[in-house]
Parts: sequence; C-alpha cells; structure tokens
Amino acid sequence: MKLLLIGSGGREHALAWALAKSPKLTKLYAAPGNAGIAEVAELCNLDTADHQAVVGFCRDHDIDFVVVGPEAPLVAGLVDDLEAASLKAFGPSKAAAQLEGSKAFTKGVCDEADIPTAGYGRFDTAEDALAYVREQGAPIVVKADGLAAGKGVVVAMTLREAEDAVTACFEGSFGEAGAEVVIEEFLDGEEASFFVLSDGTNALPLATAQDHKRAFDGDEGPNTGGMGAYSPAPVLTDALIAEVMRTIIEPTIATLAKRGTPFKGVLYAGLMIGENGPKLIEYNTRFGDPECQVMMMRLKSDLLELLLASAEGRLDQTTADWRDEAALTVVMAAKGYPGSYDKGTEIRGLETAATDDVAVFHAGTKRDGAQILANGGRVLNVTAVGATVREAQQRAYERIRGIDWPEGFCRSDIGWRAIARESEG
Ligand code: AMP
Ligand code: GLY
Repeated sequence: MKLLLIGSGGREHALAWALAKSPKLTKLYAAPGNAGIAEVAELCNLDTADHQAVVGFCRDHDIDFVVVGPEAPLVAGLVDDLEAASLKAFGPSKAAAQLEGSKAFTKGVCDEADIPTAGYGRFDTAEDALAYVREQGAPIVVKADGLAAGKGVVVAMTLREAEDAVTACFEGSFGEAGAEVVIEEFLDGEEASFFVLSDGTNALPLATAQDHKRAFDGDEGPNTGGMGAYSPAPVLTDALIAEVMRTIIEPTIATLAKRGTPFKGVLYAGLMIGENGPKLIEYNTRFGDPECQVMMMRLKSDLLELLLASAEGRLDQTTADWRDEAALTVVMAAKGYPGSYDKGTEIRGLETAATDDVAVFHAGTKRDGAQILANGGRVLNVTAVGATVREAQQRAYERIRGIDWPEGFCRSDIGWRAIARESEG
C-alpha cells in the first residue's frame, strides 16, 4: 500500500517508523515531515491546509491511505474532504473532531451520556463568566473553548488569577478560540492518559501513558506541549481501565454514533484519577505527542493494520499486542522553549540507527546538506524501552549523553513519579 502521512512532529516520526515496519507498506510519503521522518519516508512539498491539493497529490501518486497526525487538519475537515473524493483516511471527521475542537461540545456529550467529568459553566460574555467565577471561588479552571495550541487552559489557584484569565480570553488572547469560555471545577488527583482506537462503533483499548507538561525538573516552570512521557501509566490498573471503558469511552462512542457523527480514529482521554474514581478532563482526537513515541516503542502489532481496521470498521476483529516492558521518552528542546528560542543550531551525534529498544525521534529538525539543524521548540524525543521505568529512563539518558547540541536542554527527571512507585513496590 502507498501511504501519505500528514504532520511534522515527533509523533509523526514515531508513526512513520512504526508504519515503515508493516509488510503491507510499499511506499510512504510524508507532508511536510522532518529530517527524521525523511529516513523512512519521501517528504513532499504540499500545503496540507489546502485540502484539494492533498486530494490532487493522492490521485497523482496512487495513495491508498492517508494517516493524519495532528489535530488542526482533523478539526478543519481534511478527512471529510478526502473521503468525499473516495480516498481512505485515518482520523475523525470534522464533526467528530469537535471532541477536541470544542471543550463545550465535549461537556455537552458528557451531560448527554452521564460521563463523569468536572462540573462546569459556559459563557460568551466576560461579565457572566466573572460573576460565575466569583460565585464559585478558587481553585477553579478557566478554558478557552476552541483550539489554542495547548495554551488555552489556566488552572487558577486564586480568584485573582481566574479573573485575569477570563479577562484575557475575552480580550482576544486566544483569538477565535476564546470567544466562548468554559469554567470548570478544579479536580484533584493524579493525571493519566488513555488511548483507544474506534471505528465508529467498536472501541479497542490501546495503551496508557503519563506525560510531564512543565518545562523544568520537579514539574516546575511554564507549561509546555510535554517534556517527556512514559507508558504504561502505573496508576491506571486493569480495574480502572475497565471502569474508564464502561463509564467514559463506550458512552462517548455510542453518543457520537447516535448523533450521526460516529467517531473514527484515535481517542485520547485525559483523565484525573481521584478519590471518587476516574473523571474525564478532556479529549483529544489524535495520538499524544510525546505519548505516541512511547506507545510506538511498545506496540508489537502492525500499526498500519490497526489504523486500517479503524478506517474500515473492522476493529471488532482486531487486537493490539504490546510489549510488557516500559517505554520512556525525554524531550530535548531548544533553550528558551516554551518562550522564544533560536532555530538553525546544529545537532551532532544522531548517526546511530534506531533499534527496537532505543530510538531518537525527531520533532523539530531539518536537514541542511550533511547537517541536522534544530527547527522548532521541541526538537528531539529520545526514547527507550526497559524492564522497568527506571531502566528505560537510564537508557534514554545514556543515549542523550551521546548527543552534542549545546543549544538544547532537557529535564533530568522524566518518569520520577513512576520510578518512586517502583521503589515503593
Ligand atoms: P487541557 O488542555 O484541558 O488538557 O488542560 C491542560 C491541563 O490543565 C491538564 O492536563 C490538567 O493538568 C489541567 N486541568 C484541566 N482541567 C482541569 C480540572 N478541571 N481540574 C484540574 N486540573 C485541570
Ligand atoms: N502531550 C500532550 C498532548 O499531546 O496533547
């Protein structure tokens, strides 16, 4: 099969690496890709926001299947436009991607299906939102309704912070995404992520993971897209996974099917595990980044076959097998990230080929002749497998010591929570 993969991050490099192992694959194209993806795919110069250009490329190159990595093209309806042109694609329709594209939409689904989640109010004026915040008090969570590149959420520990967040939203800090605001009850507990594939009707559990969102050691500093992750998440026991499937995932899939907008693709549930059981924090409608990198290291099954089964409605006849070991990834970012940072600095020490146990996935890189240059904030995902999270961590940091990139930084404590659990147990 000939495939086109859309995206350019570490998630897409991990997907490309796993897809390239499939015996079904004959040719992999990626748009726009990065220097790491170029090792397993042919990069194409294609404006992925121009859906008719993507359709044209697929026709010209006999593409059998399009895999969409990031959320923006999903929310923009790329899968709808491909399917309208009789092209097969992995990922949800525009209507189903509203689970990620609108926090108010997801809250509506939770209400309809009685899914456990934080109590909330939704507002389209600053005045009403401020009145609600003052009535509820802090801690409280303020969220821009739409896609805000992971920056639209403020967990306010004081009333003042909450008021400032509401004001910023309505003053246009998040553009269109902040025209409506969702204000939520603060949930206490441990966060974990759970990934499921759906074909619109069936839900196939994939794996669990946890990430580190803060920039610096000890989970301090500004929020980022994720500085590292590991899988599985020890907090999500088999009993909790069964509960999440029954109380959160299955009712969501059933509700979207009933509404006539079935969810196909990967559903990424952000969960809070507290005293009253698991609650849904939010949905994403794509693989996590960097969670995907650790999941792909653990996946034993053919990824292409799984993604096809989702697109073709055959997940009831499909299973996903995983290595029992833990996988952990450390993000190397450009100094200054998530604020401003330099691009174009050279990275050395990337020549060692990926193995089944250690792989360096590229996020923001580009090739310039023989050099690999940093080309983004999050730049590399150094990923390793081990019998325990601690062993995976040791292997990842050992690989990092072989990378020469003075302009980059990484956290030195990825996985600390799981490792602390391992030493207790
Ligand atoms: P989201 O973009 O919805 O994932 O929110 C970003 C982060 O904010 C989450 O990963 C949580 O750490 C935190 N968060 C979101 N909603 C809540 C909530 N209701 N209670 C506590 N923390 C939250
Ligand atoms: N690592 C968080 C995300 O992919 O949204």
